[in-house]
Amino acid sequence: MRRELDRYSPGGKLPSSRALVERFRVSPVTVSRALAQLAAEGLVVTRPGAGAFRAQPRTTAGPAGDTSWQEVALSADGAADLVPRSVDASGVLVSLAAPPPGVIEFNGGYLHPSLQPERAMAAALSRAGRRPGAWGRPPMEGLPELREWFARSVGGPVTAAGVLVTSGGQSGLTTALRALAPPGAPVLVESPTYPGMLAIARAAGLRPVPVPVDADGVRPALLADAFRATGARVFVCQPLFQNPTGAVLAPDRRGEVLRIAREAGAFVVEDDFVRRLVHEDAGPLPRPLAADDPDGVVVHVCSLTKATSPSFRVSALAAHGPVLERLRAIQVVDTFFVPRPLQEATLELVGSPAWPRHLRAVSAALRARRDAMTAALRLRLPELALPHIPSGGYHLWLRLPDGTSESALTAAALRAGVAVTPGRPYFSAEPPAGHLRLSFAAVAGTEEITEGVRRLRAACDEVPGHRG
Ligand SMILES: Cc1ncc(COP(=O)(O)O)c(C=O)c1O
Repeated sequence: MRRELDRYSPGGKLPSSRALVERFRVSPVTVSRALAQLAAEGLVVTRPGAGAFRAQPRTTAGPAGDTSWQEVALSADGAADLVPRSVDASGVLVSLAAPPPGVIEFNGGYLHPSLQPERAMAAALSRAGRRPGAWGRPPMEGLPELREWFARSVGGPVTAAGVLVTSGGQSGLTTALRALAPPGAPVLVESPTYPGMLAIARAAGLRPVPVPVDADGVRPALLADAFRATGARVFVCQPLFQNPTGAVLAPDRRGEVLRIAREAGAFVVEDDFVRRLVHEDAGPLPRPLAADDPDGVVVHVCSLTKATSPSFRVSALAAHGPVLERLRAIQVVDTFFVPRPLQEATLELVGSPAWPRHLRAVSAALRARRDAMTAALRLRLPELALPHIPSGGYHLWLRLPDGTSESALTAAALRAGVAVTPGRPYFSAEPPAGHLRLSFAAVAGTEEITEGVRRLRAACDEVPGHRG
């Protein structure tokens, strides 16, 4: 249809929908979708009752202006010296950007479409759209039933009154950090940690201070030292399947972390981002830290995106005590509330029989994918150290041999047809070694994993200084 538009003069009437159905041998739904798309592109105008017409060509915009003044405006603020702030999305975009065609995506941060509950989400959204009041204004804190569902899934002392519905983990973390720390303040972070959180902190003018993580999570003695050295009032922690190491905070460290924070008069922001991506062979999961926290030390963040789709941007903040009021205020100031249709769709989704089935299927698929990736790596890339095999989450964290350049290897891998995530952005200060993060969730299946590892082998062989 697009190609044939030239046959009509601007303003000229196109054939009727019925004629288009016959001409292209497609259904009326397809014709109306095609017309809607051309209308959205400004090529066609539809007038109810009259038909569809070729649009008048767009009058060209005026001459391009000179935007170079913005370079000065964006950097000339003297206050920036008092509170350094940097706005940089590159660390976040690596796991969001689609790789070029034909490239195997070992850098994705979300489930491949074949693992997403696409049908259940579609059904939930359409049922949600028909719920009475679906397009009305929701309560600012979120729908009561959804707050209740989140509170029950966190457990312990958390109640619906202590839950705020937020727009994905990224937004929940932003709200938490903005609420808890003023610009210029230090914030303790795990090292390594999720670059998107470091980006939030830096964009808010906070100063991330790294505290090393080992196979059992953050190291308590170093955490206590860091609180003493900085006077920080916030520590951001991922106790379960930490991104990127996959570490789970050891049972004896859980209470210790809470005690150390409590003694420092500080909050722990718990980013519980992949609880629902537990692998089939994992043992029972530890509860969220928030479930064992009567004193309101923990501000808990959990999101549904990782188990559904990056577009299913529904998450929750859970807290208790006066901090809740601060969180609520920042959330309303920044974003008002999460669109009600999406909240209603969440209730439809998590209440459907498809939900537990989906979680079980993902659990089995992730285990198979993790095993395929670890087996392929051991076979083809034994020189890459794999210090920890996680039992949840969607990625492996590998240490490069000394002398291998992370950036050279990442570039060589892309040339060989596999996109991997370099370790550098996960460290807020100088990294102790080169690393790669390989995701096994965003690819089509185990065959692609084997092929991706083969390509990575080829890339390693090409990189000077890499000893395999
Ligand atoms: C550790 C961690 N927290 C939070 C997020 C944010 O995810 P979302 O905003 O999609 O919930 C991510 C995304 O990669 C993450 O890795």
